[in-house]
Amino acid sequence: MKLKKINMQDAFAQWEYTTALPANENGLTNPYHGVTYEEYIGKVLPELISYEDPVNMPDWFVPESYYYLWDSGSLLGEFRIRHHLTDALRNGAGHIGYSIRKDMRGHGYATTGLKLTIDIARGIVPEDEIFLRVNKDNIASQKVMLKNGARVAGEDASHYYILITK
Ligand SMILES: CC(C)(COP(=O)(O)OP(=O)(O)OC[C@H]1O[C@@H](n2cnc3c(N)ncnc32)[C@H](O)[C@@H]1OP(=O)(O)O)[C@@H](O)C(=O)NCCC(=O)NCCS
Repeated sequence: MKLKKINMQDAFAQWEYTTALPANENGLTNPYHGVTYEEYIGKVLPELISYEDPVNMPDWFVPESYYYLWDSGSLLGEFRIRHHLTDALRNGAGHIGYSIRKDMRGHGYATTGLKLTIDIARGIVPEDEIFLRVNKDNIASQKVMLKNGARVAGEDASHYYILITK
């Protein structure tokens, strides 16, 4: 199993994943649900690639790298790393967001994918801890985080705020 950064060569598999990913599942948002392949190739993919080194983006936008989890030639999931925190991210979505293809859930892929993502984030994120946020009713994701060394640092009505030491 390996993480591959978003790229032009894997456009079709990345599009299949992106267009099928719900617009909002447990707080993980995807504005590109239902996008056509033509729109993906012409606009979405170049935009997502550019997020790592943003140009003409508003001041609040933090560089973000997209990675895909692959196993035996199949794309299984997506892992996003936001390179540093702002107040909004610290009290919001944190450094990392992830999802696994619906038909491939429950096989430990998110657990391994998050581990590989944290390995990459160690070289990017300046903060001492990786910040994550999870919905209180998202038991599967809480298990994924706990198996990666998570501890609960706070909560609000609907979320746990999670830290993982780098
Ligand atoms: C959360 C998500 C990434 C987990 O992916 P996954 O590959 O199925 O995760 P894993 O198989 O590594 O681990 C899931 C764990 O939760 C358990 N689990 C799965 N669904 C569950 C449920 N409804 N209730 C309780 N436990 C559940 C699994 O049994 C497994 O635990 P185990 O290892 O002790 O058996 C996936 O469900 C997903 O993409 N959800 C939508 C997006 C999302 O919620 N992202 C995270 C936002 S914080």
